[in-house]
Amino acid sequence: MRDYTPVKVVRWKVLHLLLTIASTQGALVLTSDQQFAQLRGDITLTCNTSDSNTSVQFEKDKNYVGRCSSFGCEKSNPTKFIVIRNTEPAGYNVTITDFKVNDAGYYTCLNSYIREPISGKNITYAVDIMSVTLTPKANPISVIENTPQLFQCLTSISRPKANVTWYLGSEKLTSVTESSPSQDVTVSTLNYTSQRKNQNMKIHCQGSNGDGPSQIVCKLGGSTMSSGVSVKEGWEFGLDCSSDGNPSPSFSWTHPGDGPSNPLFIRSINRTHAGRFTIIARSNLIPSEQQAVNLTKDIYVNVEVQYPPDPPSCRVGSSAISSNIVSAIRGNTISINCSFDSNPPSRNSWSVPGVSTPTSGQSFDLVVQKATTITLTMENSMQFTNGKNEQGRHESPIEVKVLCKLLILSLTG
Ligand SMILES: *[C@@H]1O[C@H](CO)[C@@H](O)[C@H](O)[C@H]1NC(C)=O
Ligand SMILES: *[C@@H]1O[C@H](CO)[C@@H](O)[C@H](O)[C@H]1NC(C)=O
Ligand SMILES: *[C@@H]1O[C@H](CO)[C@@H](O)[C@H](O)[C@H]1NC(C)=O
Ligand SMILES: *[C@@H]1O[C@H](CO)[C@@H](O)[C@H](O)[C@H]1NC(C)=O
Ligand SMILES: *[C@@H]1O[C@H](CO)[C@@H](O)[C@H](O)[C@H]1NC(C)=O
Ligand SMILES: *[C@@H]1O[C@H](CO)[C@@H](O)[C@H](O)[C@H]1NC(C)=O
Ligand SMILES: *[C@@H]1O[C@H](CO)[C@@H](O)[C@H](O)[C@H]1NC(C)=O
Ligand SMILES: *[C@@H]1O[C@H](CO)[C@@H](O)[C@H](O)[C@H]1NC(C)=O
Repeated sequence: MRDYTPVKVVRWKVLHLLLTIASTQGALVLTSDQQFAQLRGDITLTCNTSDSNTSVQFEKDKNYVGRCSSFGCEKSNPTKFIVIRNTEPAGYNVTITDFKVNDAGYYTCLNSYIREPISGKNITYAVDIMSVTLTPKANPISVIENTPQLFQCLTSISRPKANVTWYLGSEKLTSVTESSPSQDVTVSTLNYTSQRKNQNMKIHCQGSNGDGPSQIVCKLGGSTMSSGVSVKEGWEFGLDCSSDGNPSPSFSWTHPGDGPSNPLFIRSINRTHAGRFTIIARSNLIPSEQQAVNLTKDIYVNVEVQYPPDPPSCRVGSSAISSNIVSAIRGNTISINCSFDSNPPSRNSWSVPGVSTPTSGQSFDLVVQKATTITLTMENSMQFTNGKNEQGRHESPIEVKVLCKLLILSLTG
């Protein structure tokens, strides 16, 4: 018995050593942030590393895509791929931008030096269901009372795979079996026993693979739009939106202010349009029995419309100033109070010749000594999503006329 003991110890050590190797190398795992890429959209693949100095290579169908090490990343096609280091969770990301049909393939990540372990994932794009085919095709069809009859509904290729729902009139039918002759196609079979009361009723099937258009991607001035944009009043505002599906769904929008729901274009955007824009993609799905179903998907964008300062509206006491002239009695104090409109809000300053310190704010007090001109200057800084900046400025001179006390006395006396 004793003789066997050392053997056991040796085995244990060997086992232990193997475990150590396995845990330092770790299996790389390639994951993606979406199940399917959206055509013209982006998809990000993440390859994890436990060890920050593992060097990883990304490949597509065995062709080099990019490589990363603790010193940085490089890539084969700088406009197609973005390869970066990810700290949490530790690893590297490759983003495939503007996904095209031929970007679909088998993507892998592997340790660049030992060329293993390899983890891979088939990446392809989402496809909206476009049609369903119902058999028998005869319409209307004759059936024999109390005899089971099979109906079949075949979906067009769709990713993710479509679900099929059957209706008799508006009633949902459930005695259904589903199968998949190929990966992206669904066949649903209904076994239905008709009764006399079903005479002239319609059976139809409906296929759905989610919310119709699966994702909308919009571009503003050529760049992918984010959830908020800033534009200048008076500019053209147009979005170039796309969604997967062939033919492509139609687009419309709703927004504050006036304007048609399509095309997605405003010749001269103004402040009345500012706020939440909703962009709607609509696919007209044609199932059996000519009952079209609209599948829609929408996204939102917050549009900020910036504009330089408008001419202010000012009052002295309770009376509005018209034609920028104020009359006051010598020695009295006048208080001018203005309201402003600009986006973003303006910085305002008041100046009077001979008074060295300009003041800021909404109102200005002046002890009237002689005829003079008060100048109100409003300035704002506009920053737009396209990276442009503009300074807005408006200057409003207010002429102060002096009324003579004597004149007033003689007029009133
Ligand atoms: C990657 O993640 C998998 C599962 O989450 C894990 O088993 C593996 O050890 C990780 N690999 C590395 C190198 O961190
Ligand atoms: C890498 O991709 C993951 C998953 O999409 C994401 O959460 C993470 O922010 C990305 N890392 C970087 C540095 O962009
Ligand atoms: C990826 O797709 C190819 C071709 O469709 C298939 O042969 C392969 O088994 C798939 N690989 C994985 C990991 O799903
Ligand atoms: C249809 O359903 C009936 C009973 O309702 C059954 O007898 C028949 O075998 C079914 N037909 C098929 C093809 O499954
Ligand atoms: C299809 O039906 C299953 C089960 O009801 C559901 O989990 C799935 O989300 C549906 N898929 C689609 C694309 O609607
Ligand atoms: C803003 O645009 C709408 C519709 O385009 C128009 O009716 C309205 O008069 C415009 N307002 C201003 C202040 O320009
Ligand atoms: C689907 O949308 C189109 C275009 O907006 C419309 O003409 C049609 O009536 C809609 N059909 C249904 C069933 O809502
Ligand atoms: C100016 O007018 C606004 C509103 O009309 C008022 O809220 C504000 O208190 C006034 N400022 C002064 C200094 O009178």
